[in-house]
Amino acid sequence: MKFFIDTANLSQIREANELGILDGVTTNPSLMAKEGIKGEEAIFNHYKTICEIVDGDISAEVLSTTYAEMVEEGKKLAAIHPNIVVKIPMIKDGVKAIKWFSDNGIKTNCTLIFSAGQAILAAKAGATYISPFIGRIDDSGWNGVQLIEQIARIYAIQGYESEILAASIRNANHIIQCAEAGADVCTCPLDSILGLLKHPLTDIGLAKFIEDSKKM
Ligand code: E4P
Repeated sequence: MKFFIDTANLSQIREANELGILDGVTTNPSLMAKEGIKGEEAIFNHYKTICEIVDGDISAEVLSTTYAEMVEEGKKLAAIHPNIVVKIPMIKDGVKAIKWFSDNGIKTNCTLIFSAGQAILAAKAGATYISPFIGRIDDSGWNGVQLIEQIARIYAIQGYESEILAASIRNANHIIQCAEAGADVCTCPLDSILGLLKHPLTDIGLAKFIEDSKKM
């Protein structure tokens, strides 16, 4: 399973990248706004900087919602750097835009996936990645990991090539569950990635080894 970091924060992106396990980055308008990135020039420069830090797929989300506008905006985003993946919402015009990008050799990430039906449509349109929002599904009383399992089964049976990018990750356990459920990629906040490191017995064991090493 590939690891993406789900943030527009440059210091967190650098920290995850320095771990040596990072395969890409996802952003969205909320994450960009949180970093105070405003205006087309600043937005484009920010994506360029992220591409210079991480050698992997970088999702940049369109802000428009009509087919023609999404195609125009996506073309500009894709021109920033060869690693840009155009992130398109799962709406009717979005499906049409994904098909256009797929036909024209531009990678896409279909975002805001909450059902297997949406995952099927996005795959048929040729999305490179599809992003089911695990945490938001859990928040609304459903089971996000079960959706990953269902999509993984359908894609295996049908031979769909879109990669399942588990998004809206809330904790380290979500990452483990997504790996088990067949996600191809997990995009995670830095805290959830670092959460994978933690086990109290590791800390206790290391403290004992350090103590005993003084007797060597
Ligand atoms: C990633 O592509 C999504 O935009 C992100 O994971 C959404 O996460 P949230 O539900 O924590 O906002």
